Amino acid sequence: MDVMRIEGGNTLSGSISVSGAKNAALPIFAATLLTEETCILENVPNLSDIRFMAQILEHLGAEVEQIAPTSWKISAKTISHRAPYDLVRKMRASVCLMGPLAGRLKKAEISLPGGCVIGPRPIDMHLKGFAGLGMKVEVDKGYVFLDATEACGNPIFLGGRHGSTVTGTANVLMAAVLTPGKTIIECAACEPEVVDLCKMLVSMGADIQGIGSPTLTIVGVAKLSGCRYTILPDRIEAGTFLIAGAMAGDNLTVTNLRVADQAALIDKLKEAGVPLTIESDSAVTVSKSSSPLKPVDVVTHPHPGFPTDVQAQMSTLMSVTPGISIVTEKIFPNRFMHVPELQRMGADIAIEGPNAIVKGQSKLSGAPVMASDLRASAALILAGLVAEGTTWVLRIYHLDRGYDKIDEKLRAVGAVIDRIPESDMPKDLNPEAA
Ligand code: EPZ
Repeated sequence: MDVMRIEGGNTLSGSISVSGAKNAALPIFAATLLTEETCILENVPNLSDIRFMAQILEHLGAEVEQIAPTSWKISAKTISHRAPYDLVRKMRASVCLMGPLAGRLKKAEISLPGGCVIGPRPIDMHLKGFAGLGMKVEVDKGYVFLDATEACGNPIFLGGRHGSTVTGTANVLMAAVLTPGKTIIECAACEPEVVDLCKMLVSMGADIQGIGSPTLTIVGVAKLSGCRYTILPDRIEAGTFLIAGAMAGDNLTVTNLRVADQAALIDKLKEAGVPLTIESDSAVTVSKSSSPLKPVDVVTHPHPGFPTDVQAQMSTLMSVTPGISIVTEKIFPNRFMHVPELQRMGADIAIEGPNAIVKGQSKLSGAPVMASDLRASAALILAGLVAEGTTWVLRIYHLDRGYDKIDEKLRAVGAVIDRIPESDMPKDLNPEAA
């Protein structure tokens, strides 16, 4: 396995480009199952999760080909309705296969995904949505069995205890586009990734109104055609780079982003006093402030609120901002796996239920730290950029799930960061050394 080694204290300058959005690409890959015709997907990020989703589609019978570094060709002419546990358990986004299979084949047999470190990750709202479409829904021996032979359009409320569900909305939407009748999804997720999926489905001939709003109206069609679709930029990767610039930037320009998707984060960075210039609707220049930032309180919400996927990264910025910031996680209350590792680097953060009380420190010190999930890994990389000395981030396979060559991109703008074999790490520093 590899580790990431970072020498702190270097300045980031120049342009850093954002790749396609993982959380749009994954449901969009699943949506190619809705047609027997060929789909060409472009601006697909080069991530382990994407390669894994491609393997699952192949397992189901689709022809899947990477025709360029960020372009894929998928033809799901004849496909199976069954996705086994040994595949689904490796990536919970595989739940997004349920909707397209039930929509296209009128049946699906998908293993339940299980939880992950950021929370139990239930799919009760997905199943409620399928039942709302008149499907027979059965859960047995760790599998979900869907029978959509009698499915028909219906009004469905998809709000849960934490608000809307992103992949739940995607799943029900992908079933509804081929379900006879009119479906109205109330409390639909409005995340840009859901909008992107809607646009892709419309390009295939789906009838969807209210795109981007909490109320989606879908009229089922008999068949969908293939498409050529370009995935939108990854707003979470972009947000991670904006925070990197706020911590260590000297006119770092983040390019290929969509400023419209960054409103909540840009608002918070401005509130903290981060020098930030919007160059165009796809580029923002950000620098480390010459004077101390102000502490800010952050509460995560469904889009267009502050994204939970940037919470860990923002907590890192606040850990080196003088004063007290309170970061409240409303989407995944357990999403603080980065905190113990930041504490190893000298951060002063106390967890009180869904709140992280962050007391900004003047500096962090480099240390060996353990990645636990995708966004926590990014937070540790950011901390390493400003820490005194060397930071080693272990288990960076978490990082590779959602960041396309983040070390190369950061090195190109001045960071001293490289990926090395774990065996090259000093044994006395490696907590996992035998
Ligand atoms: C998507 O996960 C993203 N993943 C997550 O990004 C992101 O953090 C999350 O949306 C919130 O924005 C993908 O798109 C592949 P939810 P998802 O259903 O759809 C609860 C990353 O780092 N809930 O919107 O699984 C749930 O437990 C990943 O890129 C139910 O209770 O999230 C959570 O508390 C991490 N029942 C809240 O709702 C359900 O049936 C929001 O979950 C579904 C969800």
